[in-house]
Amino acid sequence: MLNYQGRKDELLVKEKIRRLGSDRRGQALFMFGLGLRHPHHQYVLQHHPQVDFFEVHTENFIAEGGASLNFLSQVAERYPLSFHCVGLSLGSAAGLNQQHMRNIKKLLDLYQPFLFSDHLSWSNSSSAGTSNDLLPIPYNQESLKIFCDNVSRAQDFFGREILIENPSAYLQFKGSQIFEVDFLNEITRKTDCGILLDINNVFVSSQNFSFDPKEYLNRIEVAKVKEIHLAGHSIYNGLRIDTHSTHICKEVMELYGNFVQQHGKKIPTLIEWDEDIPEFSMLFNEMKKVQRAAQRVTK
Ligand SMILES: [Fe+2]
Repeated sequence: MLNYQGRKDELLVKEKIRRLGSDRRGQALFMFGLGLRHPHHQYVLQHHPQVDFFEVHTENFIAEGGASLNFLSQVAERYPLSFHCVGLSLGSAAGLNQQHMRNIKKLLDLYQPFLFSDHLSWSNSSSAGTSNDLLPIPYNQESLKIFCDNVSRAQDFFGREILIENPSAYLQFKGSQIFEVDFLNEITRKTDCGILLDINNVFVSSQNFSFDPKEYLNRIEVAKVKEIHLAGHSIYNGLRIDTHSTHICKEVMELYGNFVQQHGKKIPTLIEWDEDIPEFSMLFNEMKKVQRAAQRVTK
């Protein structure tokens, strides 16, 4: 059960986030953020590092024994927040879990994150229960309708746009008939949702299934890309795995630089590091490296 009592400064926090997230003309700022993970919680509260925004996994603040809302409120007083869900299960034919949706909505209403996202995946089934993993979906007309119906219902319920993140792929379905990026574009057209473009995921999938990552990035509906993710990955027996456990590789940095330069669009960019989490300073340096690379090509 969530406890929201004693948070009467929420309106001030909301106003501050609105100010930080856009300039005077309402244009999105070129922001560089970090995924905020538990080992860095106290460091961030004590040192107030110069990070444009933090992204949190929303379910961490709902789960029994998860991180505290008191902590999240303190972070929200200084930083814009991006809420990244892992459990809406938007690809599920079983529909949406209403209790989970209500819990997420309480957090959204309280903190008003400037970005809100989940994945092109599913994790909940009426017969098999709920998985902790982001499971893949086939890309065809039937799954497109299911996904779009769920996104539309969720956006109506939350009263705001959801960004859908492209996954990293380790298998392909025989029943898939649509290239992933076209499937994603079609979802944005039908539901008016946004896209969270994870360039590391594009690269990982392209290497596992031999397609050109540049073609994927050329085809994506750029106007709908509202956030970019970058992360490091690993290779096991020739398979690329999206481990978020190391530095962003050279190829992903090049794809990112080219994408930002080609489109000249200042898109909030987030660095993820979720396994073998290093000292905060190393993560911060990774973000600065990305920031310099982006600024070099957008001057
Ligand atoms: Fe990501």
